[in-house]
Amino acid sequence: MNTPTEVIRTEKVSKLYPVERGIFGRVKRWFRALNSVSVKLFQGETLGLIGESGSGKTTLGKIILDIEKPTDGRVLYRGRDIEGLNREEYRRYRVNVQAVFQNPQSSLNPRWQVWKIITEGLRINGISKKKEDLIEKGRELLSLVHLSEETLFKYPHQLSGGQKQRVAIGRAIALKPEVIVADEPTSALDVSVQAQVVNLFLELQEKFSTSYLFISHSIPVVEAVSDSVAVMYKGYIVEEGETTEVLTRPAHPYTELLLNSLPGKEGKAAPEVDEVERVPESGCPFYFRCPKRKKECLSFNMELKQITETHRAACILV
Ligand SMILES: Nc1ncnc2c1ncn2[C@@H]1O[C@H](COP(=O)(O)OP(=O)(O)OP(=O)(O)O)[C@@H](O)[C@H]1O
Ligand SMILES: [Mg+2]
Repeated sequence: MNTPTEVIRTEKVSKLYPVERGIFGRVKRWFRALNSVSVKLFQGETLGLIGESGSGKTTLGKIILDIEKPTDGRVLYRGRDIEGLNREEYRRYRVNVQAVFQNPQSSLNPRWQVWKIITEGLRINGISKKKEDLIEKGRELLSLVHLSEETLFKYPHQLSGGQKQRVAIGRAIALKPEVIVADEPTSALDVSVQAQVVNLFLELQEKFSTSYLFISHSIPVVEAVSDSVAVMYKGYIVEEGETTEVLTRPAHPYTELLLNSLPGKEGKAAPEVDEVERVPESGCPFYFRCPKRKKECLSFNMELKQITETHRAACILV
């Protein structure tokens, strides 16, 4: 088998957000949303990102999209630090890394017809300017996402949730990006529609060899789309590896807990495990919730340890 081409990699990315400021605006307290996170995205492959609310999934997506800057660490695009790209290379980066968000309602301009929404990137990047050309291009894009031609002249409010998400996907692929960060792209949809949208993602990946960072609360959805999975907890990657290995033989007690909270197989979002905010000063952040905890966990450095060639976990029990 050929080794897949690495497109984007994060290297020990940390992100701190100021949460409390003194009277003169000086930051008194910081919140660590990401702790030394390293992930790789390969051409034509999907990395699924799971973990409960607040674990840092969206933050990682934003850093890859360069909407947020890391406090520490870096993002490499085809081996090069994105901070070192020149103007034109950076423009290419922004074109090559696109996003699809959870709520198509808020991500689509309500005053624009679909042809204008779906071709926005083509306009911004000066690829087409003429209305007739854009409409023609819009027609092609709609066909790629399996929407009928009459959708071209509709407004977002005239579309169903699934149709809106197809438009958002069409807009994301318009510039044939190398990477799509999909942040809970099916979570706002009915279960029956979720499967269709998942299939569309798979079909487009097959066609264009796009790489996805696919964030989802739904383990069945992640299982369906991902080649590999990373599990996040309190800003750490606690486990990662080939999808089946991680989901059938979880090694970190947190992953086990997350998988056990799965409500059947119908693809509903897993309920939040009891929100326990307590995190020890050092060591494993899962300590207080872990049924297998030991004293040594409080001095564990959270490094990912190799279990098999394609499976790693950050737990002293590994
Ligand atoms: N701009 C910000 N300022 C301060 N804290 C922030 C900011 N953005 C995110 N956070 C905090 O960082 C943590 C991680 O947030 P993030 O949105 O990445 O979580 P998530 O895993 O995507 O959660 P969800 O599943 O709910 O979408 C949260 O505790 C959040 O409150
Ligand atoms: Mg999020």
